[in-house]
Amino acid sequence: MQISAIEIFTGEIFHFLANPGLHSEASGWEWIDDGAIAVCDGKILARGKRTHLFETYPDAKVNEHRGCLIMPGFIDTHVHYAQLDVIASFGSTLLDWLERYTFPAEAAFENEAHASLLANLFLDEMLRNGITTASVFPTVHKTSVEAFFEAAFARNLRVLCGKVMMDRNCPAYLQDTVSSSEKDNLSLIEKWHGKGRLLYSLTPRFAPTSTAQQLQMAGELLHAYPTIHLQSHLAENVDEIRWVKELFPTSDSYLDVYDQFGLLGERSIFAHSVHLSSEDKMLMGKNQTAIAFCPTSNLFLGSGFFDLSQAVAHQIPVGLATDIGGGTSFSMFRTMTAAYKVQQVHRHALTAWQAFYLSTLGGAKALGIDAHVGNFEIGKEADFIIINPEATPLLSRRYQLTQTLEEKLFVLMMLGDDRVISGTYIAGKNASATLTGDC
Ligand code: GUN
Ligand code: ZN
Repeated sequence: MQISAIEIFTGEIFHFLANPGLHSEASGWEWIDDGAIAVCDGKILARGKRTHLFETYPDAKVNEHRGCLIMPGFIDTHVHYAQLDVIASFGSTLLDWLERYTFPAEAAFENEAHASLLANLFLDEMLRNGITTASVFPTVHKTSVEAFFEAAFARNLRVLCGKVMMDRNCPAYLQDTVSSSEKDNLSLIEKWHGKGRLLYSLTPRFAPTSTAQQLQMAGELLHAYPTIHLQSHLAENVDEIRWVKELFPTSDSYLDVYDQFGLLGERSIFAHSVHLSSEDKMLMGKNQTAIAFCPTSNLFLGSGFFDLSQAVAHQIPVGLATDIGGGTSFSMFRTMTAAYKVQQVHRHALTAWQAFYLSTLGGAKALGIDAHVGNFEIGKEADFIIINPEATPLLSRRYQLTQTLEEKLFVLMMLGDDRVISGTYIAGKNASATLTGDC
């Protein structure tokens, strides 16, 4: 019988056990000074004081990271791998940006080699930024999903993805049909859902690009497979909302279109959701439909200012998202900074507690995968990051001036970027060995 090896990682352990709320007097977090986690078979075996874990597991291999923080890997609740080459495209708003840059770039993903190259570059970049889980849009092409899942499976990642569905209002070269979409979804679900740590997420792009029949079919699949997920876009931009009204004149609201076809619920997440009525928010809270808050994208495309405190007041699960390529950075620190600035518009300064919660356990809860990832509870998958809070001269100087943990986290969230991620671990293994190339 093979005896499983135990590894200990030492450092300042920081994670959340519950939502810390929106105020500075936060609870729900745990900080273990001079601490450690023990990992076995890719799972968290124990966490505690460094000396205690050394005594408990005297034969364990030790990885010293004293002076660094060890946190659960970041969770990006909404991102488009097929938009890697679209990032930083100048001057547009949503519908024009889709036509001008995004749809042409997505056409190339019919090609297997291109899809595979971009999937690997995307995953490299994600891991380099400490993001260990993401809910990912590919394109309408089956090849784009195959390439992504293959690359993610090879790296043992817990990610969600699913074929983009769109059967109208897009260029003919990107269009599917109700029946081709159903057939592709079925074969992809059977092949990939639950393989390794992969999860299938039905992906109707957004209401304008699907017929009622296609949304109906998506709802039927979601109910036929009780463990798959659903991701889409909602109420991002005022022109988009007007368009949805024209396309679905009998619906009460944009959200109501999705509700009508049974697409809401605990396994569903909608990106943006910037412009919602209080009735919409009440419904999302009631049935626990989640929102992916995409601050850099909402600012870049001039879409609007998402009001986090309103969403929280309605008990809607919220996660943070980069939304590459409408979003402008792979860094969750930069994304937290943008979220902070957006909340300032609403006169609700985003605490570091809430920002890091949204990027870890909050994201896991929003995606309905918190039984597996999001914090260091015993038995959860050991996806974690090593953060060097003094990775740059400015950060080092400013960090040393801090006195409280809250100040430390705030400095990190405002000044951090990929340079502070000194290690990304997937199921206890260093992911740097899996990086394929430079972006
Ligand atoms: N709405 C529909 N498709 C997209 C997309 O690719 N990006 C963003 N930001 N919004 C969308
Ligand atoms: Zn998106």
